[in-house]
Amino acid sequence: MAHTSENPSYTVAPFHWDDLSELSGLLNRLGRHGFRQWPQSPDLLRSELEVLRLQPEQDAFILRRSGEICGYAITLHERDIHRTVISIASFPECHPHAGPLLDAAVNRARNAGVAAVHVAIRDTAAEPVEMVKNRGFVEVTSNLELKLDRKDAARLEDQPLPSGLSFRKMRSSAETLLLTRVQNTVFEGHWGFSNNTPEEIQARLDLPASGPEHVRFAENADGDVAAYIWTALEWHIDQTCGRIWMTGVMPQFRGSGIGKAVVHAGIKHLLAEGATDVHLEVVGHNSAAVRIYEHAGFKTVGHVDWYELKLR
Ligand SMILES: CC(C)(COP(=O)(O)OP(=O)(O)OC[C@H]1O[C@@H](n2cnc3c(N)ncnc32)[C@H](O)[C@@H]1OP(=O)(O)O)[C@@H](O)C(=O)NCCC(=O)NCCS
Repeated sequence: MAHTSENPSYTVAPFHWDDLSELSGLLNRLGRHGFRQWPQSPDLLRSELEVLRLQPEQDAFILRRSGEICGYAITLHERDIHRTVISIASFPECHPHAGPLLDAAVNRARNAGVAAVHVAIRDTAAEPVEMVKNRGFVEVTSNLELKLDRKDAARLEDQPLPSGLSFRKMRSSAETLLLTRVQNTVFEGHWGFSNNTPEEIQARLDLPASGPEHVRFAENADGDVAAYIWTALEWHIDQTCGRIWMTGVMPQFRGSGIGKAVVHAGIKHLLAEGATDVHLEVVGHNSAAVRIYEHAGFKTVGHVDWYELKLR
């Protein structure tokens, strides 16, 4: 049967490296979606896919509409926490045909032997929610997307660190192991956090505008790290947005105002770098973090809901 624009054909196939520039174009047109923003150039996307815990030709799938790419799914296996995260999206006109894409990704996760699959969906996307619910996924947690305008950020006063602690910049990628250790310790037991490898941390540090110059440590006189903040800049057509990418306080240093001080320091850094506003995502039930952000003047601008399908 001939396929016309009124009668398009939809196919799902495993990703092949020849699809890279088309996939990159799709991701750029989709913009920020699910739980993340993918790198903007095909080269950076290639590096990211090579570093992540996946084998792209087995773990990524492409949805085509009459031969044109219109959706993708990537499965990221986080075996230390027994789950696979599926990053999935398609153009709105293809939403009703994205089911087989999700099915291919879920099958892949099943073959990887994990206990559960997680998918993140922004609150604006009604059809994807229906698609996952129809397959038995249930909502397990919700993240808040927060935003702080430059004028509110500019009013913030510096928040001092408790005595004996001071800020310093990350020295260079020679401290990648330190950053890896700090991040893994700070987020241990945090919902959905899977330990990072030094290679993953390095790949993030190598991306434009999220390098060591955007990391601050708070440390004591002995050089013990008490807390850190890792920020990033994201360039959009007419503005530079700041992002608080990761931040936290080492468990033994919590509860004495350090969290608040590092967040303020990160915001000031982003302003000094020309950010027009500051964005971040936080797990809704993380009351200590939400308190810090609300006190700083962040407003909720959206939700990212996480859905789970148990596989065993
Ligand atoms: C969230 C976190 C950074 C807070 O650090 P902290 O140094 O303990 O925080 P502070 O001492 O600056 O306290 C910040 C606010 O949270 C409150 N708070 C502290 N611990 C809390 C808790 N367990 N539950 C509820 N509120 C809490 C404090 O009272 C304070 O509020 P106040 O200013 O109204 O008094 C720290 O708990 C952490 O690193 N958690 C794990 C990683 C993480 O969640 N990072 C943030 C992800 S976006």
